[in-house]
Amino acid sequence: MHTVVITGATTGLGLRTATRLAASGWHIVLGHRGQSRGQEAAERIRRQVRQASVEPMEIDLANLNSVAAAVRHLQRSGDRPPLHALLGNGGIQIIDGLRHSKDGYELTFATNHLGHHLLIGSLADQLPEGGRIVVVSSGTHDPAKSMGFPRPRWTSPAELAAGDDDLSPKGGRHRYTTSKLANLYFVHELARRLEATGITVNAYDPGLMPDTSLSRNYPAAAQIGYRLAAPLIAAAMPGARTSRAASKYLAALVESPRFNDTTGAYFEGPNQGESSVESHDVVRESELWNASEQLIGQALARRA
Ligand SMILES: NC(=O)c1ccc[n+]([C@@H]2O[C@H](COP(=O)([O-])OP(=O)(O)OC[C@H]3O[C@@H](n4cnc5c(N)ncnc54)[C@H](OP(=O)(O)O)[C@@H]3O)[C@@H](O)[C@H]2O)c1
Repeated sequence: MHTVVITGATTGLGLRTATRLAASGWHIVLGHRGQSRGQEAAERIRRQVRQASVEPMEIDLANLNSVAAAVRHLQRSGDRPPLHALLGNGGIQIIDGLRHSKDGYELTFATNHLGHHLLIGSLADQLPEGGRIVVVSSGTHDPAKSMGFPRPRWTSPAELAAGDDDLSPKGGRHRYTTSKLANLYFVHELARRLEATGITVNAYDPGLMPDTSLSRNYPAAAQIGYRLAAPLIAAAMPGARTSRAASKYLAALVESPRFNDTTGAYFEGPNQGESSVESHDVVRESELWNASEQLIGQALARRA
């Protein structure tokens, strides 16, 4: 048995993928914020998979102290099976104005990128040869396939962490697509850094999944309409699918031998695809890596 750490595993794609991986015999470290959410999700998995091995672990991606504590917890091996995979799935989309994390960083960038940078960047060297890292990005990062989402607005990592002054819902969607572009820069940079180790790092676009809670910050009427239309959207819209279907392909990226030698790649559902032209930029990739290390270091020092 091997261990996989999954962030954002309380609902949506994360919970479905955790359930699949538990069914195929993985020990699941189930990332959650809030004790009751973690216990509920673990119970849901155990109800579906009787032999499931699930360990809820508190990790608030928008609080770097919490992420650092989770890293320390995982570094103490305890009696869990050896760590073999890290799955950066947790994410948010905020459209009702600008918010900041506990560390003072723009909340979408902090949650979707910085928290994962600290978690995955700190634990990558604990993985063995053949270990897998998968980060959930989104096709919305690509203006050519964005399903109506506005294009990313890349500036500098420091400016992205500070947040811009666009308080409109569209501004929030820009910040979301920008954070999903950051996920790709992170994957490309880490894949290069781990090239000689046999550990693979890939990005996944699940496609539009109308049955998850990602739209929870949208107005109530929009959420209800979206929920009601979910089966139709998932069945009829190209590139859309249920979270159940999307979890099958994500679980395969974590465990299928088909991907033993694939690294630095981008998957759209079941297929290897191409992320945007903008997502291939070695200068930005290295700049983001170095700036993220600095932003994380400063935040941890401030709150020590
Ligand atoms: N839905 C889509 O159409 C779609 C399309 C492309 C990509 N994606 C990506 O898929 C991933 C999963 O999203 P989903 O659609 O399954 O949405 P979801 O149902 O809202 O699930 C998001 C998960 O992230 C967790 N999370 C949010 N903020 C967190 C924080 N500060 N610390 C720790 N965990 C946090 C949530 O935990 P709580 O339960 O505590 O809130 C939840 O478990 C995201 O990265 C998203 O960007 C989604």
